[in-house]
Amino acid sequence: MRVIVEPTADAATRRAAAFLARQLAKKPDSVLGLATGGTVVGIYQELIRLHREQGLDFSQTTSFNLDEYVGLPTTHEQSYRRFMQQHLFDHVNIPAERTHVPDGLATDFETSCARYEWEIGQAGGIDLQLLGIGRDGHIAFNEPGSSLGSRTRLKTLARETIRDNARFFGSEEAVPRLAVTMGVGTILDSRRCLLVAVGDSKAEAVAATVEGPVTAQVTASALQLHRDVVVILDEASAAQLRRKDYYAEVEEAQTLLESGQLAALGIASS
Ligand code: PGA
Repeated sequence: MRVIVEPTADAATRRAAAFLARQLAKKPDSVLGLATGGTVVGIYQELIRLHREQGLDFSQTTSFNLDEYVGLPTTHEQSYRRFMQQHLFDHVNIPAERTHVPDGLATDFETSCARYEWEIGQAGGIDLQLLGIGRDGHIAFNEPGSSLGSRTRLKTLARETIRDNARFFGSEEAVPRLAVTMGVGTILDSRRCLLVAVGDSKAEAVAATVEGPVTAQVTASALQLHRDVVVILDEASAAQLRRKDYYAEVEEAQTLLESGQLAALGIASS
C-alpha cells in the first residue's frame, strides 16, 4: 500500500485527479471504476478542467460505478447515475453507452447484479478503481460485516451511513435503506485501487484501513490484500496514522527513483 499525504484537501484532490489522468494518458481505453460522494466531487472537477484545458480524452474510456441506491429513479436528484452525469459525464467526452452504474430499479436483483459483474468482465476488468471511504470504514456500500469475497449484490445501509448521507436528502427518513453495490471481492479484482480520503471525520477509518488488522468490520482494510493500492490523504484524514514518517520516506525514495537519482539511494550506476 502506497500512502501519500498531501498538506490540504485540495492538494489531495489534485493529486488523485492527476493519477486518473495519467492512467488515461497511458491507456486511453482504460476501464475506470468510479465512485460518488463528497470526496470525489473535486476530483471530477479537476478532470473536467484537464479535459477542457489540456485535452484529457475520455473517448475510449469505459466506466463502472461502485454502487447505486435502490428505488430512486435515475433522474432523482440523489441517484448516483444523476450524480455522475452532473459531476462528470455531461462535461467530458465519455461515450454514454460506455458508462455503467448498477441498476437500482431492477425487478430481479440477482440477475442484474450478475449481469453487472459479467459486463465488467466483458470490458476486460477494471484497470483503476477510484474509492472513497465511509466513516465506518466501508468501501462502496460494503458495510461492516460484508464478506471480503462479496460480489455485486443488494446491501442494507448501516445506520451510520444513513445518518451521514441524510445531509444530501434533507432527512434520515428520505435516505433509501438498500443499495446495489460492487462487492469487496469485485473491488479487489481491479488491477489498481486508488483510495482517497479527506477531513478529520475519516481519520479513524483511515488508520484502521491502513494500519489495523484485515477485518470484515472495516471493509476497506481488505485493500491490504491487494497488490497495487495507492491511498491519497490530506493531513486531517492522516492524523491517526502511526507510521506517517515512514510513508513520507517511501515517497521521497519513490521520487528519487522516478527522477533517476539512483546514487542518492545507493544504487550503483551500470
Ligand atoms: P463521502 O463518502 O465522500 O461523501 O465522504 C465516501 C463513502 O461513503 O464512501
